[in-house]
Amino acid sequence: MGASEPQITQNKKMKIVTTIEELRGQLSGQLRTAFVPTMGNLHEGHLSLMRLAAKHGDPVVASIFVNRLQFGPNEDFEKYPRTFEADCEKLNDAGVYVLFAPNEKELYPEPQEYRVSPPHDLGDILEGEFRPGFFIGVTTVVLKLFSCVQPRAAVFGKKDYQQLMIVRNMCRQFALPTEIIAAETVRAEDGLALSSRNGYLSVTERAEAPQLALALQQVSKRIHAGEKDIAAIEREAFDTLKQRGWQPDYIAVRKRANLQAPSRDEVAAKSSLVVLAAAKLGATRLIDNLEI
Ligand code: PAF
Repeated sequence: MGASEPQITQNKKMKIVTTIEELRGQLSGQLRTAFVPTMGNLHEGHLSLMRLAAKHGDPVVASIFVNRLQFGPNEDFEKYPRTFEADCEKLNDAGVYVLFAPNEKELYPEPQEYRVSPPHDLGDILEGEFRPGFFIGVTTVVLKLFSCVQPRAAVFGKKDYQQLMIVRNMCRQFALPTEIIAAETVRAEDGLALSSRNGYLSVTERAEAPQLALALQQVSKRIHAGEKDIAAIEREAFDTLKQRGWQPDYIAVRKRANLQAPSRDEVAAKSSLVVLAAAKLGATRLIDNLEI
């Protein structure tokens, strides 16, 4: 920077709190808090959630907590990327007022025996089928974080479409005073949905990764073109990914309202649909979805 250019001094003001007590102290009397829970390793997708939160409340509070409860025994809890310093800088620059970053002892001082159990028809399909217990872990920690932060609004990304719906339904059924705001998925230029797990991809895998979004676009195009045999469309998309070396878990066209499979009539009537996919590329499992 040249000597004559004005110095832009960042206003470093974010408070980092690690205990529920400190958090409550910081937020006491706040009635319009907007909250974004995260597991850290923040990227542009997360920052877009922070910006959206600022439109729905004040102050904006973020959390970073890698929640063991939502990881299966053979999943990546231990190696999940933890980049706390860099995350703090990004959150501060994004205008977050308080970062709640509890350790496990703070959030789970005793075994978490009370858990939230989403209904089977929503919690045990798609992600829930391939990651048993995942949504119980998510809803349990989200309820607990909401109880700590007491937000008026909370922002969740559409990238985790099923998670968003399950959290929203939980809030409705428990009459929680938190409005759930959905944020659009942020994508790299080549279409790959941003995700912390993209960091696991090798250079060649990263080059292949946009094929997942492309597969969703193909499905969407065929349905828009009037094709009604959803099972055939799903199977072909699944096989295409498989032939390219992916190990897909599912590619499924579902109704946006409840993530159940649409009937032929519902497809014909152009009900609001979404196509969701999960597939492994090497050792990395990616998910994505597209509203049709
Ligand atoms: O989407 C995530 O990062 C997590 O599932 C969440 C909502 C922070 C709960 O741990």
